[in-house]
Amino acid sequence: AEEMIPTLSRVLVTGGAGYIGSHVVYALQQTRRYKVVSVDNYHNSFPASLTRVAQLARDALPENPSEADKESAEIDALQCDLTCPEQIREVFERYGKGGIWGVVHIAAYKAVGESVEIPLTYYTNNVAATVSLLQIMSDFDCTRIVYSSSATVYGTPPVIPIPETTRLKADSPYGKTKVMSEMIIDDLCHAEPDRWRAISLRYFNPAGAHPSGLIGEDPRGRPGNLLPLLAHMAIGRVDDATLKVFGNDYPTPDGTCVRDYLHVLDLASGHLLALDALEPESSVFDNCPDDARYKAYNLGKGKGMSVLQIVEAMRKATGFDFKYEIIGRRRGDVPDLTANPTLAEMELGFKAPQTLEVMCRDLWNWQTKNPQGYTQQ
Ligand code: WQD
Repeated sequence: AEEMIPTLSRVLVTGGAGYIGSHVVYALQQTRRYKVVSVDNYHNSFPASLTRVAQLARDALPENPSEADKESAEIDALQCDLTCPEQIREVFERYGKGGIWGVVHIAAYKAVGESVEIPLTYYTNNVAATVSLLQIMSDFDCTRIVYSSSATVYGTPPVIPIPETTRLKADSPYGKTKVMSEMIIDDLCHAEPDRWRAISLRYFNPAGAHPSGLIGEDPRGRPGNLLPLLAHMAIGRVDDATLKVFGNDYPTPDGTCVRDYLHVLDLASGHLLALDALEPESSVFDNCPDDARYKAYNLGKGKGMSVLQIVEAMRKATGFDFKYEIIGRRRGDVPDLTANPTLAEMELGFKAPQTLEVMCRDLWNWQTKNPQGYTQQ
């Protein structure tokens, strides 16, 4: 097993090469407290993202970096298919029992529409893989996990802004994989309250990119999400440059859906705070029912923006004159997903200060510097 420098804790990030994952790896490295291992199947990501993240870490090192500093700027970037338990086991064997301090589990398929068409692929990749990961973590005495969940677990929420106490009621197979994984982790923490500490982070709508323009969202194929699609339109990667707005007959100010967009780096900072909350001295779990050390937090700004407001913000950021036409509603869409972020703010010290203008500016900076995304390199 690889030796660790005592001052660093090794953290495994699944999906580390992806849009969220690469920004979380970046944030971990900036603290110089962690040695990062990334596992990714590169199904919807590129190894190049981690090469660039490591470059950012090296660039940020002090004049005379210590051995630990240098070590913290290196990433073990491993290709691994989490649906194969043996591949997960090989990763843990490499570092030995106790060699991995904690896991940030981000890897998942995430297209709502696709999940309706191929549910078994989603249950295998998002749920069965999570069970395998948890089992092998336990076998190697790694019992701290930050789990990437999603606002989609709320379905159509009865209360806006949405508190974490809202009942979980996902409508799509994708959303159900998130609910099921949260419940599996919760059950594990109840079964072994003295061993496991876990936090689920319910992402609202991450957007933007690191201001260097070196890393960003680069989905394979045509983007399903609004912001990367608008960026592709403005850079000329989409031949049909008319945005189809999925319905303007929702009970919202301008009839189009409202979402809570937060900067991906603010989202990433929430993961650092969640890892801190898994330390023994943290008070986050003090009042947990039956001592199970499991909690879920919303990561959002608490500010909703409509589709048309996003189009306007991107028009300003890109100078591109977007055309749009209103068509029918998209299956699975809900009128408004705006977070009540106060629990994460109070208990984790979470903040998401960056504005929509900065998100659009950083997204456009990434897109103009990488017109074809990572595949260009
Ligand atoms: C935002 C709004 C669309 C495209 C999804 C997942 C969620 C998370 C983030 C994983 C919606 C509208 C979009 C278009 C449109 N993924 N839209 N025309 O649906 O809020 O969340 O991605 O965690 O789980 O559900 O994000 O960017 O797809 O859509 O009108 O061509 O833009 O209807 O209202 P969404 P989105």
